[in-house]
Amino acid sequence: MLRSGKVVSVLGLGYIGLPTAALLASQGYTVKGMDINEDVVQTVNKGSIHIVEPDLDKVVKSAVTNGKLKAYSEVQFADIYIICVPTPFVKDSEIPTPNIDYVRTAVESIIPHVKEGDLVILESTSPVGTTEMIKNVFERGGIDTSTISIAYCPERVLPGKIMVELVDNDRVIGGINIDSTKAVSQFYKTFVNGEILETDAKTAEMCKLTENSFRDVNIAFANELSVLCDNNGVDVWELIKLANHHPRVNILQPGTGVGGHCIAVDPWFIVSQDPKNSRIIKTAREINDSKPEWVVDKIKATADSMSTKKVACLGLAFKPDIDDLRESPAVRVVESLIEQGYNVFCVEPNINEHEKYNLIDIKKAITEFDVIVLLVKHKEFTSNIILTELENKGALDFCGTFSK
Ligand SMILES: NC(=O)c1ccc[n+]([C@@H]2O[C@H](COP(=O)([O-])OP(=O)(O)OC[C@H]3O[C@@H](n4cnc5c(N)ncnc54)[C@H](O)[C@@H]3O)[C@@H](O)[C@H]2O)c1
Repeated sequence: MLRSGKVVSVLGLGYIGLPTAALLASQGYTVKGMDINEDVVQTVNKGSIHIVEPDLDKVVKSAVTNGKLKAYSEVQFADIYIICVPTPFVKDSEIPTPNIDYVRTAVESIIPHVKEGDLVILESTSPVGTTEMIKNVFERGGIDTSTISIAYCPERVLPGKIMVELVDNDRVIGGINIDSTKAVSQFYKTFVNGEILETDAKTAEMCKLTENSFRDVNIAFANELSVLCDNNGVDVWELIKLANHHPRVNILQPGTGVGGHCIAVDPWFIVSQDPKNSRIIKTAREINDSKPEWVVDKIKATADSMSTKKVACLGLAFKPDIDDLRESPAVRVVESLIEQGYNVFCVEPNINEHEKYNLIDIKKAITEFDVIVLLVKHKEFTSNIILTELENKGALDFCGTFSK
């Protein structure tokens, strides 16, 4: 069996790398995690975790205790290298561009260690051509890439379900050549229950970007509908429910916008490479990105008509039932209202305290505020707020909290 005696090095021990390292260790691999952040290395070596993810703590603790997982600040010799470093985008122009410097640096750090027969796998979400770039970096470093396997295997896990989805999701694997694809597929087959789908590197790279662009474009359609409906006095939630009774129509739900570090980011990787031919993807990004401004204008109109500057915003996270505020459209709404002189109080059941925002509980928001704005469909709001409590208030629901 491939896993016996094999050493895996996971570069980048964040939301993706740490669960991957812990899972592989629990499956019998010897795992040497590596991160440039010394705090992360120390935390992992204590058997603890620095991110919020259900069940991860138990797997890391047991893997570290039984010696199968150890973290380092420098790359160690291994047989399989998995790169899970960040691939952020740079917002320095009209079209944000991906920054793959972290990937390049990670690959350069592997060069002194890589040997014949090793596997080098990229899991970071990357623009098309990145896996080929890895091959070129190795060759410039004097490595004969015909003796190693290099492949891209995008990660599709949902935060909150990572430990389950790492095993159960289908995986797309695209190598720089057929031998690389086959060798890396064999490795994933040792711990993945989902289907392993083989292709080439560019198709695998485009596949990951396509999946998130598909979601973004379809959410943009729903968001555009929500504005059109508002202008026409139509309830968008009822409209979508009715339209979805058509056997071949399946419209997604509108909201305050699109946030997080994947759907709001990855489509730009496609657009920046070919802006002229990615018009729908670019327009969808713009529609979703502009939705918070529209939401702010609606809130201001309501507050101004009630001659108040006090607004209670319900929800800060970028999607329901999580604590993650990255790229959150709800945060953009709150920030914009504060900048424009509104006195904003926030209800976020998934966060206990925040250094910047005034947090209050749902009850206080409902009883003490006249302008109540629902920005995120958290379960606490759907289960705890009774619609009649909002009567005679300036209540605005941007996320379908009360739609059935
Ligand atoms: N988080 C998700 O839900 C998710 C889902 C699918 C894909 N992805 C993609 O996976 C990649 C990693 O995302 P993440 O959320 O785990 O990021 P993260 O920021 O949580 O973790 C990345 C880690 O890499 C470390 N790092 C940076 N440069 C390094 C280097 N040269 N060597 C070793 N470590 C280095 C950082 O210190 C950090 O701890 C990104 O491309 C992201 O788009 C993330």
